[in-house]
Amino acid sequence: MTTYFSEADSAQTVNARMNESANPRLREVMTSLVEHLHAFAREVQLTQHEWELAIDFLTRTGQLCSRERQEFILLSDALGFSMLVDAINNRRPPGATENTVFGPFHVANAPERQMGDCISLDSKGERCIFEGRVLDPQGQPVAGARIDVWSDNADGFYDVQQPGIQPQWNNRGIFTTGADGRYRFIGVKPVSYPIPHDGPVGQMLGHLGRHPYRPAHMHFLVSAPGFETVVTHTFVGDDPYLASDAVFGVKETLVAPFERIDDGETVWRSHFDFLLTPAG
Ligand code: BEZ
Ligand code: FE
Repeated sequence: MTTYFSEADSAQTVNARMNESANPRLREVMTSLVEHLHAFAREVQLTQHEWELAIDFLTRTGQLCSRERQEFILLSDALGFSMLVDAINNRRPPGATENTVFGPFHVANAPERQMGDCISLDSKGERCIFEGRVLDPQGQPVAGARIDVWSDNADGFYDVQQPGIQPQWNNRGIFTTGADGRYRFIGVKPVSYPIPHDGPVGQMLGHLGRHPYRPAHMHFLVSAPGFETVVTHTFVGDDPYLASDAVFGVKETLVAPFERIDDGETVWRSHFDFLLTPAG
């Protein structure tokens, strides 16, 4: 094989430059990445102008990144790449609660709350009881499970998107299960909302004729000693965006019942059990 670059041997020439001392896993990943990247350019016969557009797109994506905004993860989400990597790394037995995309709106160290507490602090939207159990594969309750929850408000925004408008920690909280493995809290019935679409990812979606909406969902991060952590949502079953989630997060097993109860105070009830998988 020639040491000089040629169109025919491009990927092999680049990969042959790698030193023997390179970490074996890095070698494996980079060799494959170079092969696929070169094969892609060859397959679509990438023009110089398209290459420039791509460089400009990636540059703007990076420039938008800050502590508050991660446009590269959003790009990964919108390309279905986040969900693929999550699926590869979280294969679970049938019946176990599935993962979905984490998203950018989780805030660590939300207030610890008591079972039955209301997490909605802005008095907007239709009240909804979220309740269920955290169970092991034998169907036994898991005590001491931490359930970190967050959702948008009735206007479709997370508190961190509207500082000064929404109360801090609106629609967030952490609950810990007791011996019965049960959880119960009051929130609002979530509504569908667009992912941040005022940047390069939004432009990409626009050019592809894709909308930026996510179907309504409640986020759950469920962890317990000895079990795999579940990063997931429950989805509202009649949402018009279920089949076209902008980030491909919907799984059939995560579509939860939202039953109208209308008891004068609370309008909805959503019951969902989490079935954890033993760690390792
Ligand atoms: C979310 O559900 O909060 C979310 C997930 C991925 C991208 C944007 C938002
Ligand atoms: Fe969300």
